Amino acid sequence: MPKFTLKKITKINLMSILQLDVNPEQKSLVASNAVSITQAHFNKDAWFRAIYVDNKPIGFVMISDTLLKSKSNPNHRPSYYLWRFMIDAKNQGKGYGKEAMKLIINHLKSRPKAKEFLLSHSKSDGNAGEFYKKCGFKYTGKEIGDELVMRLEL
Ligand SMILES: CC(C)(COP(=O)(O)OP(=O)(O)OC[C@H]1O[C@@H](n2cnc3c(N)ncnc32)[C@H](O)[C@@H]1OP(=O)(O)O)[C@@H](O)C(=O)NCCC(=O)NCCS
Repeated sequence: MPKFTLKKITKINLMSILQLDVNPEQKSLVASNAVSITQAHFNKDAWFRAIYVDNKPIGFVMISDTLLKSKSNPNHRPSYYLWRFMIDAKNQGKGYGKEAMKLIINHLKSRPKAKEFLLSHSKSDGNAGEFYKKCGFKYTGKEIGDELVMRLEL
């Protein structure tokens, strides 16, 4: 059984994470890892990790974790939102995304006052809605911009 881990991105593994990419027809569904990692450095709520199977990087995740930027406010009600999620084209369809999502959910369960995990996805062809359903997310009936919002109870 392969071992799945979420690893910090450092100057050592950065290039290998920047090389991960989705299929050409999926490019409108998620930002490149270069854009996401850059944004992460300018957003204090960004929690981001590379997804590894054994010693091989195969994907990327970024979450908005509002507690990271509001630690000093005891009244802050944190929210946890999936911002980016991708599995490299060569490694899609092997069940890796689902395993990685389990790790992400476990991470969130360890965060203070974590009650729900939210995300939104595009309505375009090939969108990840069915994938998220298989990971336990349910539609809320809400939309953000032109994206459908889903929720998982933690
Ligand atoms: C969506 C994504 C992360 C799924 O990763 P993956 O490793 O290929 O998914 P898995 O192999 O773990 O699939 C788990 C299940 O979801 C299903 N699934 C995966 N992607 C799907 C899709 N786009 N549409 C319908 N079903 C999908 C699989 O068939 C599988 O079903 P099963 O458990 O019944 O066999 C990956 O396709 C990806 O990176 N897509 C491009 C980026 C993207 O859309 N990110 C989300 C932005 S909101």
